Amino acid sequence: MQRFEGRVALVTAGAQGIGAAVVRRIAAEGGSVVITDLQEDKIAELAAELGDQAIGVRTDVMSRDDVNAAVAKAVERFGRLDVVVNNAGGCIVTSVPEDTTDEDWHRQLDLTLVGASRCIQAALPHLVESRGNVVTISSVNGLAAFGNIEYSAAKAGQIAMTLNYAARYGDLGVRFNVVAPGTIRTPNWDSHPEALETLSQLYPLGRVGEPEDIAAAVAFLASEDASWITGQTLPVEGGVLTGPAPLVLSTSGPFAKKY
Ligand SMILES: NC(=O)c1ccc[n+]([C@@H]2O[C@H](COP(=O)([O-])OP(=O)(O)OC[C@H]3O[C@@H](n4cnc5c(N)ncnc54)[C@H](O)[C@@H]3O)[C@@H](O)[C@H]2O)c1
Repeated sequence: MQRFEGRVALVTAGAQGIGAAVVRRIAAEGGSVVITDLQEDKIAELAAELGDQAIGVRTDVMSRDDVNAAVAKAVERFGRLDVVVNNAGGCIVTSVPEDTTDEDWHRQLDLTLVGASRCIQAALPHLVESRGNVVTISSVNGLAAFGNIEYSAAKAGQIAMTLNYAARYGDLGVRFNVVAPGTIRTPNWDSHPEALETLSQLYPLGRVGEPEDIAAAVAFLASEDASWITGQTLPVEGGVLTGPAPLVLSTSGPFAKKY
């Protein structure tokens, strides 16, 4: 499939994990990609791997100047901008919610919610021109209670922001959607790999996700295959949102699975 031939995508936090998988997927489908992240070495390495199809631009989504410059660079290098993937926005608060400070809240919202908003604002004139679209990587934390209150609130905020932008710019052909991943095996989990083992037991499909599972969903929503889909949140989560009851009830007792 070459769904991104002639199209240009900007991916935030594209150096590793989900972002890097999205970059590779869009490039594999013929697109040009602007890889942005704080990690200059890694984005340079990934851009080199993709040759003429990619450039790396060091960008902190918490800086409006950086974001504006990255969008300008995308248009300068490739002449247009069709897709923004708002992937930056991981959990950065480490204290329990009872102890978080205003500063913790502000940092988390600034990274996850305002960061995505900055990228949309900077890209919007170009997306209007290209009738492009935005895919924001939220989380199942934005849809149900999995802990990390500040992160979850910011992720839910991304969903509300997407609904409003979708309603506001649909008439100009610009689409806004969200992918809400469950647990995904990325470097984010490198310091506690055992957690992935434990968490996999909560997933009806029997495993945590891989970055490529998310990249496939992003590529679908960002492509013309989804040209009549806007304002939606697509959970890509191995069934974890079905809740714990079906898992427990299906293994023992009167409702145990027959097969
Ligand atoms: N991994 C999961 O289990 C999981 C689950 C649900 C949602 N998500 C979401 O997916 C997205 C990517 O997660 P991941 O696990 O692939 O990431 P990761 O932790 O592997 O990498 C995060 C990347 O973000 C970059 N980054 C950090 N601060 C930044 C900033 N201010 N500006 C630009 N880049 C910055 C880092 O340099 C790094 O390359 C995040 O929004 C995260 O919330 C992840």
